[in-house]
Amino acid sequence: MKKNVLITGTSTGVGFESAILFAKNGFKVYASMRNTSKSDSLKEIIRKENLDIEVLQLDVTDIKSINSAVKTIIEKDNRIDILVNNAGAGFAKATEQSSEEEIRWVTEVNYHGVVFCTQAVLSYMRNQKSGRIISITSVGGLVGQPFNELYCGAKFAVEGFMEGLATYVSDAFNIKISNIEPGGIATEFMTSAISKTAVDGKFASGEYEPIFERYMAGNQKRANESKELVYQTGAEVAEVVLKVALNEYPPFRIRTSKWAEDFCELKTKADPDGTKQLNQLKEQFL
Ligand SMILES: NC(=O)c1ccc[n+]([C@@H]2O[C@H](COP(=O)([O-])OP(=O)(O)OC[C@H]3O[C@@H](n4cnc5c(N)ncnc54)[C@H](OP(=O)(O)O)[C@@H]3O)[C@@H](O)[C@H]2O)c1
Repeated sequence: MKKNVLITGTSTGVGFESAILFAKNGFKVYASMRNTSKSDSLKEIIRKENLDIEVLQLDVTDIKSINSAVKTIIEKDNRIDILVNNAGAGFAKATEQSSEEEIRWVTEVNYHGVVFCTQAVLSYMRNQKSGRIISITSVGGLVGQPFNELYCGAKFAVEGFMEGLATYVSDAFNIKISNIEPGGIATEFMTSAISKTAVDGKFASGEYEPIFERYMAGNQKRANESKELVYQTGAEVAEVVLKVALNEYPPFRIRTSKWAEDFCELKTKADPDGTKQLNQLKEQFL
């Protein structure tokens, strides 16, 4: 029987590419998105290439929709093999200038969404005594970056949540946890982040404005000098997601490019894939 995979946020980018790649590699894919009216291009590829992909509605900020998508999968297959927590959204703004609504939203999408999707599949994976939970976090889950502190905080939270969970669900229930940490990816991500955060084309005001401008100029300079080194495609990151899913002994954490590896090196050198830390935690507490 085919293994199945539920992927969140498949309307564009890494999620879209992962849905296609997993289906081409023999998985039954449940491609979820918050707004299924955005599924036309995926459906066109499904039809042309005869792929085993079913589109489901799932908004990671809506627990009812998460539970309903998982229920559909269980009713059809009576199991769930892999969850890919991919849905996420960027946000670049000074904390002082962010509204309560923005702060709650960035945390809901990037952190609570991951927690609730994970919670929704755990009982099935525990009963099966197998499962994989793969989350697309970010280099921003390891290294805080200017004006991205709210986004990075949410991604750090995912890293901490998954580290704690991985200490016991892997050995006890054979549920393998992996965090995938990309650097820049050329997807809709940046455009969505800009439309969410800019007010009249400006991201910052007052004393923050010149600092933000320096930050943006630095980003632009790096992109101009070495765009292909900094930015991966969604398809390249999807290849890493598939590789992790197929690995019998998947790493707890993995960067997706040399740029991402170099960027995080100060934090990751002692324990690049997180195994040493997990083993120490198990020895200390379990
Ligand atoms: N692009 C980068 O530079 C970068 C770098 C490091 C990590 N990442 C991470 O990689 C993952 C994929 O991002 P991407 O680059 O592929 O960006 P993307 O093209 O913008 O895709 C993000 C996906 O998440 C979905 N999404 C947003 N809010 C959602 C919600 N409430 N419920 C369900 N889905 C929701 C989006 O749906 P809509 O189309 O409806 O908005 C879209 O399908 C994210 O977790 C992101 O944080 C991205």
